[in-house]
Amino acid sequence: MPPTPSLTQPRRLDFAPRIGALLDGHLGDAVFRLDSETVGVASAELIEMIMASRPANDSERPTFKPLLGRAIPRTEASAVMRAVGQDVRAALAEPVDLTTDLSGSWPHVAHNHLRDTVFGRDPYRLKALVDRRLEWTPKLTWTVIAAGAALPVRGGTPARMSGLGARVGEAPTYGERRHAMGMYRRAAAPVCFTVAALVANALWLGAPFDPGIPNRHILHESLRLLPVSWNLLRVASPEFGRLDARIGAADDVLMLPLLSHRDPALWDDPEVFRPERWEDLDPDTAPGYLPFGHSGERCWGRHMVVPLAERLLDIARHNRLAPDPRQTTARVPLAGLMSVVDVRMIRT
Ligand code: HEM
Repeated sequence: MPPTPSLTQPRRLDFAPRIGALLDGHLGDAVFRLDSETVGVASAELIEMIMASRPANDSERPTFKPLLGRAIPRTEASAVMRAVGQDVRAALAEPVDLTTDLSGSWPHVAHNHLRDTVFGRDPYRLKALVDRRLEWTPKLTWTVIAAGAALPVRGGTPARMSGLGARVGEAPTYGERRHAMGMYRRAAAPVCFTVAALVANALWLGAPFDPGIPNRHILHESLRLLPVSWNLLRVASPEFGRLDARIGAADDVLMLPLLSHRDPALWDDPEVFRPERWEDLDPDTAPGYLPFGHSGERCWGRHMVVPLAERLLDIARHNRLAPDPRQTTARVPLAGLMSVVDVRMIRT
């Protein structure tokens, strides 16, 4: 019989070739050309200056960019974020069942658990909008939305469904319902996708964890080595060339927390997963560390993401959930969110 592999044996990350090329070719570089129209930026100071030079425009705001040509006013964006924030708080207020079995293929299992925990009361038509399969194509998403919007959603009160769901229930016409369902998808899907990715990454990088290490440190360190939001795009603007002559007037700029988070000039043992380093570091001020964006316009969802991820980690740690030791490599595909995929988690 082959020996049982040790739980502590090294685990490899198999990055998509384009991500691997960035890590292999540009760690420690400040500014470099990615293609004829795009400059990559990994210098902490320059990222700071570019982000501070102007607010993100509509096309650079993924959550609240226009939906089917309809701009999302600030008041609507705030109302949607309030609704999803309340939904997450309501889920967190429920007692946690630490014995929940989350073994299986991650981040899938985590995604479905989060969907059921936060949006479990919603009718199937709405929950289907956070399905992982809708990642494939925006067209498929719109087909599901158009079909789902055909009939009114009944029972639209927050007591019977999520606050996001109630917004769909209140929509008076087909067009408004379709819009509200699009916003449901925009706000509910990231809760499941991003938190599942964050915790899957953390478990791959370090589980089972030393019981003395706080969840927060594990999450900060996971976001350092595998920043779920690993690149930030800003389209060409006159301000950028004034900050660095290597950026041309027509160049888009791709800022890369992926690289600044591993810059050997900023981090001791940058490649090593060491959650303890956060005992002495402040994630809001550590130079070059921006998993939730720049201080001027940080992620609006971070206050819900972190407690939700901590709760998932509580369950995982209670059950000593960890990657199956027979799996020694995890793929990290080229995608908007940086996440290990198809990781077999088992109770150890
Ligand atoms: C691990 C989880 C998450 C990470 C790492 C993350 C990261 C980020 C980053 C880096 C930005 C700044 C983007 C830029 O300046 O270009 C951002 C903005 C934003 N995030 Fe998050 N985010 C997470 C989860 C969420 C969730 C769950 C929501 C909502 C439900 C959310 C809503 C937003 C919004 C509304 C913005 C402002 C820009 C926009 O309209 O998209 N985020 N986030």
